[in-house]
Amino acid sequence: MKNILIIGATGQIGSELTMKLRSTYPNGEVVAGYIPGAEPKGELLESGPSEIVDITNPQQIAEAVDKYKIDSIYNLAAVLSAVAETKPQLAWKIGVGGLYNVLEVAREKNCAVFTPSSIGSFGPGTPKVNTPQDTIQRPTTMYGVTKVTGELLSDYYFKRFGVDTRSVRFPGLISYVTPPGGGTTDYAVDIYYAAAKGEKFYCPIKPGTFMDMMYMPDALRAAIEIMEADPSRLIHRNSFNIASMSFDPEMIVAEIKNAVPDFCMEYKPDPLRQAIADSWPDSLDDSCARSEWDWKPEYDLKGMTADMLKHLYLKFKPENTK
Ligand code: SER
Repeated sequence: MKNILIIGATGQIGSELTMKLRSTYPNGEVVAGYIPGAEPKGELLESGPSEIVDITNPQQIAEAVDKYKIDSIYNLAAVLSAVAETKPQLAWKIGVGGLYNVLEVAREKNCAVFTPSSIGSFGPGTPKVNTPQDTIQRPTTMYGVTKVTGELLSDYYFKRFGVDTRSVRFPGLISYVTPPGGGTTDYAVDIYYAAAKGEKFYCPIKPGTFMDMMYMPDALRAAIEIMEADPSRLIHRNSFNIASMSFDPEMIVAEIKNAVPDFCMEYKPDPLRQAIADSWPDSLDDSCARSEWDWKPEYDLKGMTADMLKHLYLKFKPENTK
């Protein structure tokens, strides 16, 4: 049996991961931790317990862990890259202060901890193409600074205290369920929403800007598989490169146009997001994840586009799905 606390359960990843964990561990308690103002609704609320758990409040984390006899914590609280540049103090408080609170509770109460890292943990000095697992990590964004700090802190808690910390470096995550907020890769979600609604899309990222991206079902599977992995095979822990596709705006628009020929996009670069994207890798080498815990993505750009559009049409235009 597994009893799991998800912190940030109503966010882009949490809202889907909580449901997937509930179906994966039907005999355990899978607790949706949320902050006031971001309450769970619908299926997420009805399918299991939920608790107010603010990551900046260590007592709330400890109380939820005690109440539900939690053995694993998924720490999904984060301020994404573009917002983190406008609120760097808050990004540090949540990304690093919050993680410290989680790790301390995990140390005292013997919990495993998953905390996502990101392609944002790399910087301009990192090899850009096929970025290796172990390489230079000198990010120039506050988001990246919190992610590298989180990787180091999580590895420290494993080595020093034996806390079972594990992590993957997520690429930009694409989903039709809960939109992301304030990330640099958000354009790759917004573009599908525009296409499905029949709207013109203004792309904040310039052509030729490649970033790693991933469809949410692969990302959810990665988050569960890394926590289920045989620890004796893990050479790395915090954090693994994972990858499934890398594209620039031209490639995604071409793929969408195969299904929506009159889709229209215009470039309207956002200097903040462009500068962040330019400092990140084009594509990651995920061979360590493949060899240490058998990571393998299922979706490419073509498969993801077909599935995204199908679900977004259902969301916005039920008459189109007949
Ligand atoms: N999707 C994130 C962002 O853009 C990257 O991990 O901030």
